[in-house]
Amino acid sequence: MMLGREILETAMRRAFELASLGPAENPNPQVGCVILDPSGTIVAEGWHRGAGTPHAEVSALAALPEEWRTRAHELTAVASLEPCNHTGRTGPCAVALVQAGIGSVVFSVSDPGDASSGGSATLRAAGVEVLGGVLAAEGNTLLSGWLARQATPQSASRLLADSEPAAPSSRVHVIVKWAQTLDGRAAAADGSSQWITGAAARLDVHRRRAAADAILVGTGTLLADDPALTARSDSDPSGLLVPASEQPIPVVLGTREIPSDARVRQHPALAAKGLSDPLQFSGEDLAAHFAELHERGVRKLFVEGGPTVASALLRAGLVDEVLVYVAPALLGGQRLAIGDLGIASMSGIRRLSLTNVERLGDDLLIQASIHDNPENEEGH
Ligand SMILES: NC(=O)c1ccc[n+]([C@@H]2O[C@H](COP(=O)([O-])OP(=O)(O)OC[C@H]3O[C@@H](n4cnc5c(N)ncnc54)[C@H](OP(=O)(O)O)[C@@H]3O)[C@@H](O)[C@H]2O)c1
Repeated sequence: MMLGREILETAMRRAFELASLGPAENPNPQVGCVILDPSGTIVAEGWHRGAGTPHAEVSALAALPEEWRTRAHELTAVASLEPCNHTGRTGPCAVALVQAGIGSVVFSVSDPGDASSGGSATLRAAGVEVLGGVLAAEGNTLLSGWLARQATPQSASRLLADSEPAAPSSRVHVIVKWAQTLDGRAAAADGSSQWITGAAARLDVHRRRAAADAILVGTGTLLADDPALTARSDSDPSGLLVPASEQPIPVVLGTREIPSDARVRQHPALAAKGLSDPLQFSGEDLAAHFAELHERGVRKLFVEGGPTVASALLRAGLVDEVLVYVAPALLGGQRLAIGDLGIASMSGIRRLSLTNVERLGDDLLIQASIHDNPENEEGH
């Protein structure tokens, strides 16, 4: 059974302290890990000392006293970053934790890396209890430099420095994100939707925006919300999470004109990338628009709605992943997060593969991949 929230948060604060002992000027993230016994007492600690050295979880496992090694299923590992899932110069931490027999794993920040993420899924598949998002706002702050660097062209492969190079992608990876209430609504009856979720969830969105090459909204959202579409630190809305030249390019879908005073026209990536206006596509041939984005160098596209556009992309089979932030709130009414997908009966249900569940403050983040599920044959 998972230890109480207070114990986990105290342990996570210690993991943060340990993380900061690692080198800050290093391509790898600063990560700390503590291992707790069933009473919540720390029995081992570890942190990452730099590229090529053991990751924090492996270093904590190495420090585990002999008497706990045969009773590891009673233990909880608490790490500041989701255990990695990839093999580089060191093996995957998720596998090391499974092999050690650890019963529960708790982490703060999920790993945004294409190659290194998925540790939670590996752990869960092995029967390990997993809880993500503990003290996520603090964890994000601690890792903000590294997280932002995941978005830079030099680290476009989003691999840790000790891993193998990634194969170049031949198409745009499309992530559709939305925030919804428990009853599946994305806005109130009057169209307002700011804010359904709390500060920790919004900071998580900004971090993921920073890791995308482009960010897309429909004209409906553009006109309703006037979004800036920049990746910012929530505590300092004017502070960009990544430099202007590395901000995601704003893209608008729809034929209605972008107003002259729309905030997106001030997007810092426009000047930095020599664009006079946000990119705008009619929406008539979505696959062709995405092919054009790919030609422009976009590999990761973050779609932020609204419901009409998200539903159209899902219907067209152009979505790789969905990222749903669920607030424990109710709105009722007609403004559903996702509209008609052309599914008439249960035989057409779209089953997704759950890849991550995290608590962010009072909200839940649910991440699921579409094409990984063998029940879905639809592709690009
Ligand atoms: N909770 C959330 O996460 C979230 C996120 C975003 C927005 N929202 C809320 O959602 C509402 C806006 O969403 P919305 O659904 O009305 O608008 P939307 O999805 O942002 O935009 C819809 C428009 O996109 C254009 N479009 C381009 N290609 C299309 C295609 N293939 N299929 C359909 N439309 C296409 C059309 O505009 P043209 O007529 O110009 O061609 C269409 O009217 C607001 O209330 C906003 O606050 C909530």
